[in-house]
Amino acid sequence: MTFTRADFPEDFQFGAATSSYQIEGHAYGGAGSTHWDTFAATPGNVVRAEHGAVACDHYHRWPEDLDLVAGSNVDVYRFSTSWARVLPEGRGTPNPEGLDFYDRLVDGLLDRGLKPAATLYHWELPSQLADLGGWRNRDIAGWLADFTEVIMGRIGDRIWSAAPINEPWCVGWLSHFMGLHAPGLRDIRATARAMHHVLLAHGRSIEVMRGLGMSNLGAVCNFEYAQPADDRPETLAAARRYDAYYNRFFLSGLFRGEYPAEVIEGFGPHMPDGWQDDFATIRAPLDWLGLNYYTRKVIAADDTSPWPALKEVEGPLPKTAMGWEVYPEGLHHFLRRTHEDYTHGLPLYVTENGMAAPDVIENGAVFDPHRIDYLDAHLASVRKAIAEGVPVKGYFVWSLMDNYEWALGYEKRFGLVHVDFDSLRRTPKASYHALAAALRRS
Ligand code: FCB
Repeated sequence: MTFTRADFPEDFQFGAATSSYQIEGHAYGGAGSTHWDTFAATPGNVVRAEHGAVACDHYHRWPEDLDLVAGSNVDVYRFSTSWARVLPEGRGTPNPEGLDFYDRLVDGLLDRGLKPAATLYHWELPSQLADLGGWRNRDIAGWLADFTEVIMGRIGDRIWSAAPINEPWCVGWLSHFMGLHAPGLRDIRATARAMHHVLLAHGRSIEVMRGLGMSNLGAVCNFEYAQPADDRPETLAAARRYDAYYNRFFLSGLFRGEYPAEVIEGFGPHMPDGWQDDFATIRAPLDWLGLNYYTRKVIAADDTSPWPALKEVEGPLPKTAMGWEVYPEGLHHFLRRTHEDYTHGLPLYVTENGMAAPDVIENGAVFDPHRIDYLDAHLASVRKAIAEGVPVKGYFVWSLMDNYEWALGYEKRFGLVHVDFDSLRRTPKASYHALAAALRRS
């Protein structure tokens, strides 16, 4: 890495991130069925129909994993709580083993001098709630509020920061419009409802956490830079539409109490009744905003298709194993724009950033200089934004370790730590050692 801690403000927090379903092993500890289990069990949805039953077996190996977090010299660990592990049927009777697991995990972090940063929902919706329409059903706001009460009633007293939902865009658009994540729908009405209800649920969950006396509460959104394929007016308009439903919809809701006109153009007839009245809840005051950032997309108009009438085209930049172009300038763009147009001084965190590569163990080590370069270049964008006065307060690498990369199964390796999915052996990669050296306190 070309930086050390000294290149960042004194109070800047470095972290590593994971999520429950991607690492824990959902078969263990009495967790209930989720829409990811049934999505993965349906042919054609997930590479090799892989699922999270064992994943990294973090449910049993968490002490070793938290030692790895501590050894990387980061300050904060961002993890998520599985709704179906805590409430196997989504509502009703909690599973004591699930609550005990997160209790141990939080104490394990504190014992190692690490700050626990919790996300309540990172995509595994209990099946019983999916049966009731999941994110399409407005009642999900109350269900999430109740889950918040149960889990944070147990661990909230020791949590450093919390956010209700990881990446509303993925919960809404990717899962209900593109059909690429559970529940795998391709329906504009379902999408409009899910994208609104996800914010309503966020607001209710924040209210509950405030009521419990918790502080340092935020939201985590994901962003992709929309690069117009050329400078024709219809191309520029298509890129603006992409930017509107991907990047601006949730920020507008959270910080302005409105949705971009370009999105309402498509969603208008499909929005749930009375959506305009929900912004008082959605705009519950926040202490920070988290930005997840990986790549850009090159966008062209497509007038053969209904709204949003656009398509992605192949871009010229070097790509990661996900096929995602490496574009660190985009991170700087979003930090600045978010600060200037929406958050106006609220602390910002980069809550996810990282890359997948086909990393292999050779002579007991994993050589991943591409990941070191990627992280380094994105941290340079963060430094540039800080130098320009954007209040960026922290940065989390996605991910601590290789894990279940959703519809792409186990072959997309994002970790600082390599995981052998047969033996479940962990091997820190060169990037892990480089980060640990850069963050070492002398
Ligand atoms: C983000 C998700 C995370 C992981 C990375 C690669 O969208 O939050 O779980 O899949 O992408």
